[in-house]
This record gives sequence, C-alpha cells and structure tokens, in this order.
Amino acid sequence: MVEKYEVRRFRVADKDSPDYSKSTDWMRAVEDGFHDNRRSAEFVDKIISMYRTDDRELTGVYQTGSVPAHSLTADIPVATFGTLLKTLNTGYGRQLATRLVTAVTVRGTHRRRGLLRRMMTEDLTVAKSEGLAMAALTASEGSIYGRFGYGVATFERSIKVDTGPRFQLRHVPAGTVEIADRKVLLDVAPRVFADAHHLTPGSIVRQEGYRQRVSGAYGHDGAEDPGIRCALHYNSDGEIDGYVSYKFSGWETKPYTVNIVDLVAASDAAYLDLWKFLGSIDLIQRISWEEAPVDDPLGWALEDPRCIESSDHRDMLWLRILDVAGALTARRYSADGTLSLEISDSLGFASGTYRMEVRDGDASLTNASADQAPDLTLDVAELGSIYLGAVCPVTLTAAGRIRENTPGAALKARQMFAVERSAHCMTHF
Ligand SMILES: CC(C)(COP(=O)(O)OP(=O)(O)OC[C@H]1O[C@@H](n2cnc3c(N)ncnc32)[C@H](O)[C@@H]1OP(=O)(O)O)[C@@H](O)C(=O)NCCC(=O)NCCS
Repeated sequence: MVEKYEVRRFRVADKDSPDYSKSTDWMRAVEDGFHDNRRSAEFVDKIISMYRTDDRELTGVYQTGSVPAHSLTADIPVATFGTLLKTLNTGYGRQLATRLVTAVTVRGTHRRRGLLRRMMTEDLTVAKSEGLAMAALTASEGSIYGRFGYGVATFERSIKVDTGPRFQLRHVPAGTVEIADRKVLLDVAPRVFADAHHLTPGSIVRQEGYRQRVSGAYGHDGAEDPGIRCALHYNSDGEIDGYVSYKFSGWETKPYTVNIVDLVAASDAAYLDLWKFLGSIDLIQRISWEEAPVDDPLGWALEDPRCIESSDHRDMLWLRILDVAGALTARRYSADGTLSLEISDSLGFASGTYRMEVRDGDASLTNASADQAPDLTLDVAELGSIYLGAVCPVTLTAAGRIRENTPGAALKARQMFAVERSAHCMTHF
C-alpha cells in the first residue's frame, strides 16, 4: 500500500481528555460507513461511554500529508475497525476468550486499496501475539471475510408468529410471567443472560449496550424509548429465569403486531412460558422476531407449527481460529476418537497438520506424523465453521470445502464436534 495512510490504534478516552475528539471523529466515520443518520452529540457521548465500559480498542486509518480543500479533514479516519474481548461458550459451558471485530468501514473514496486487508491482518497478528486462539465477527456481506480465514459458525432467521386462535402450545406452564417496568432490565437482563449464556453453545457475552437498549434506556435516536415493554418469567422457586423485551408496532400496522426486542430464557420452560405469554397478548395477532434461533423448540411445541412464518435464514457468527491447539482443546467433545487434520491458512496463523485425540470428551493435540495421510484436509475457515457443531463436516465435504482422505472421517468429525444443544449466538456486535 502506498504510504499515504497511517494506522492508529487507541483506547476510548475519557470525556475530559484532550484525546476525546479522536473517538468522536472515529464514530462519525463509522456512521458514514454504515449510512447511519448523524447522531446527536449526547448520543455519541452515550455510545462512547458504553465503549469505555467494554474497553474497546479503536483502530483508524488516517490520511497523511495535506487533504484536498473542503474535503473531510485528516482527523476523520478513512477506515475504521473496532475490537473488544469477550468470551464464547464453545459447548458444555466451556468458555474461550475471543477477539470480537466490529465497526469495519472503509470510506467509499478509499476502498479497494488494501485498507481492510491491512487492518485485519495487523489486528489478527496482534490478537495471536496476545495469546488469543479465536476471533469472531458478524458480516454485512457473505463474500468478504472467508479470505481472512473466517467461517460461518452459527445462523439465525426472522420469524412472524400468528397468535390467532391456531396458536396453541402443548406446553404446560412451569412458572409464571409478570409484566414489569422496562427499567428493571438494566439489572435483570445481564443476570438472566449470564445463565442463558452458560447453557447455549455459540453464545458470546454481551456488551454494555445490550442492557441499555433492551431496557429502552436508549432507542435509535439515542433518547429513551418509552415504547419498550417487558415481561419477566419466574420459575417455581420465584426466581427470574427469563424475560422478553418487546414493542408494539402501532395501530397502523396490520395484523396488529408486537416486535420482540430481546427474548432470553435460562430454561426450556421459561422459553415456552414466555411464548405462551406472547401468544396471549390481547388485541395482538402477530409476534415478530428478527433474531430467532434456527433450531427452535417453539415449532415443535406448537400444535400447528405452521403458525410460524420463517424467512431470511442467514449466517450470524463467523469464527476465525488463530491457534488450532488453543481452540480445539478449549472445547469438550461429544464422542471420543482420533482425527488428523491438515489445515491450510493463507495468513499462516493456523497452518499445519494436527492429530487430535479425544478421551472422555477432552482433546489433546500433537503434530501429526508426516508419513501418514491426514483424515481430513480443510482450510482454517472450514474448521471455524464446524467448531460449534452447527455446520456439518459431511455437508462441507459434499460441497468440496473439506477433502475426506479417510472414508468416514467427516461423519466421525460430525459426531465428535457435536454440542449438547444447538449452537446459537444471541449477541450481535
Ligand atoms: C467491505 C469493506 C470494509 C472493504 O474494504 P476495502 O478496504 O475496500 O477492502 P480491501 O481493499 O482491503 O480488500 C480486501 C479484499 O477483500 C475483497 N473485498 C473487499 N470488499 C468486498 C466485498 N464487499 N465483497 C467481496 N470482496 C470484497 C477485495 O477484493 C480484496 O480481495 P483480495 O485481497 O483477496 O484481492 C468496504 O467496502 C466497506 O467499508 N463497506 C461498507 C461497510 C461494510 O460493509 N463493512 C463490513 C461490516 S461487517
């Protein structure tokens, strides 16, 4: 890349610091990158304060030298990249520290000059040097990140549920649901989420903005969102183990609809009880949820599963393995056995041939001997895809993405990489 750019990485500064404007300028660049409306100064302050809570690191690419008259000043980065550190539930409640990549933008007039490639490779190099085994992101387009070794690892979908007379659940309520003031979610949501997170493979610990948004502390324009409503689920011991945050679409939307802002349940019973409640809201004919799980017990609990209209089945979490031994030993496996994996990685972080031996669910990794063909040959992106058990190695073999050198090895990998319940990531970042 021609050296007319400089990359700067920095932590979000305190509001009183002279460096504060660096963060606000960075935020402006992100707004432009995602075609967002200009946010008010107060809203930007609010977001930056949440960034501080999450200890985000911001990367900006800046023009060096003079910029053309009347164009955006050199203080506004032409490219942005944000990171934060959270944990991923890799299955059976095991946790892995994971680098989350977010706010990736490149100004339209500076695109396709290698800025994304530079930010991404530099950041992955730093993450690896810090000892991290995994990076993750969610993608605006499906064709950008595979080249950097990211593979699709979980999915989600949008649903619309008809809550008219045919909405009948087979489920017998196991607790109670009560309406609460939305503001209790500031405190309750993180606690319920922590329990749900431990039960859900693929879940990533949430950033500060979640509790604020789902409680209506801020809406799209940064002001409080008084339209948010909330219901809590109490188990038979009276403890809160689930909640739904929701919003009425207004009388102009027909059929009359309630949109789920967030639904988190730390037990199967809480999940179905909350759906029973949603299905019983008077005057409402439809519940809509943009971030529903793909493998959803709701369909199986309904007398008529066709109450659910499902659309936009899409990739959600993308995983990038940086350290094969670190990532594979952080998991627990559903079947014992040995598997040798030849991994390619165009960025070089994970390349090698590994022998994975699983005993009593725990894996140990060694370098495979060179004189034996590996059972499976795959790119690190495919290893990321099969990591949470949500993408089937047999399907990837059929698609030509995995080469099976030992007959049956893909099925064996499927059995070993299976997790205790369907992987689902409830956290967008
Ligand atoms: C996507 C985006 C970040 C790419 O930035 P960029 O600096 O132009 O990318 P680079 O020049 O570094 O390109 C890196 C590689 O990605 C490819 N690429 C970039 N954008 C792509 C796209 N939208 N679709 C497919 N491939 C893409 C390039 O062809 C290049 O490939 P190569 O290195 O293998 O030859 C930029 O176009 C952008 O800001 N888009 C709008 C915001 C957005 O979608 N952000 C992603 C959020 S998840």
